[in-house]
Parts: sequence; C-alpha cells; structure tokens
Amino acid sequence: MKKKICGIAKKTKTRKPAGRIEVRESGVHGCGVYATQLIPKGARIIEYTGKRVLWENVPDDLADPHTFLFGLDNGIEVIDPTTGGSEARWINHSCDPNCEAIEENGRIFIHALRNLRPGEELFYNYALQVDEPITREVAEESRCFCGSLRCRGTMLEQKADLSIGKLEG
Ligand SMILES: C[S@@+](CC[C@H](N)C(=O)[O-])C[C@H]1O[C@@H](n2cnc3c(N)ncnc32)[C@H](O)[C@@H]1O
Ligand SMILES: [Zn+2]
Repeated sequence: MKKKICGIAKKTKTRKPAGRIEVRESGVHGCGVYATQLIPKGARIIEYTGKRVLWENVPDDLADPHTFLFGLDNGIEVIDPTTGGSEARWINHSCDPNCEAIEENGRIFIHALRNLRPGEELFYNYALQVDEPITREVAEESRCFCGSLRCRGTMLEQKADLSIGKLEG
C-alpha cells in the first residue's frame, strides 16, 4: 500500500520536530499526532496556532467536510491553521480522548489528560458544533471512526439521532 505523506513533514524539510510529538499516518484518519516520549498527565503539549478568522467570513457550504477550523469560546472567531498552523492541526478526534483543548486568553492549548506513552496517538474530543439542523449529510460527514469502546459514532457535540428517517435532508 502506498504510504501517505503527512503535510508538515513534507513541506518543512528543515524544520525540527517539536520533540515530544511527531506527525505520521494514523489508523483512525489520514495523519495523526503521536507521542515520541512519555508525556506526563497535565502537560501542555502544543498550541493550536493559525490565523484568526471571523465565523461569518467562513463559507457556509465548504465543499470539503474535512475541517481544520477551531472555534473560540467567543463564538465569533475561529483559528484557521492553514496559515501559520502548528502540528496540532493533525490531532484526530476520539470519543475517549487522552488530551483536551483548553482556551486561555483566546489561545488554544492541547494538554494531556493522562500520562501518554511513546507511540500513543494523541486525541481530543472535537465536540463539533453546527448551527443548523443536523441533516443526514452533516451526520454522515461527522461520523467517528475512533474505534474506542466509548465511541459515540459521531464527532458532533450534539446528540444526533442517526436512525433511519430521523434526519432532515
Ligand atoms: C484537523 S483534521 C485532523 C487531521 C486529519 N487526520 C488529516 O489527515 O487531515 C480533522 C479531520 O480529520 C478527520 N477525523 C479526525 N478524527 C476523526 C475520527 N475520529 N473519525 C473520523 N474522521 C476523523 C475528519 O475528516 C476531520 O474533519
Ligand atoms: Zn468515536
């Protein structure tokens, strides 16, 4: 099978990895972020950096459901890591996460929820929010493949009733 090249490593040949983490292919989706050494519970691992954009300027109908945007608590801005983004943009979602995203003064930091072993993939709960009815299309695009025993089947924060006939659209 052809190996997927994860973006950061490909584009920034001269850039040194952050040290405790690396970006490589994930069993859950595309690229993911992995611990390369023991990371203690509570450690601040990395900042989710990028350009601040107003929600209202984000196109409603993004052709690609695959999202990198991180919404801030003020509800009016998102961080778009396609400009100035760190490796944090590759962290995947899990319904049983080992990391959490904490907002401090308008900045997002990823912290370890427990001790992380070298080789473990990092995950946080995306708790995706949509400000419109959850259509079948939205539910499908948000389906979760984390594989954990606690998997809710969706990356959405809202409880979507995914049973046949219950969704609009
Ligand atoms: C910020 S990116 C994470 C990096 C992504 N793996 C990649 O290679 O581009 C977020 C996207 O990854 C995918 N993703 C992350 N976690 C997932 C999960 N548990 N199940 C299914 N897709 C997931 C979704 O397409 C989501 O919109
Ligand atoms: Zn899941």
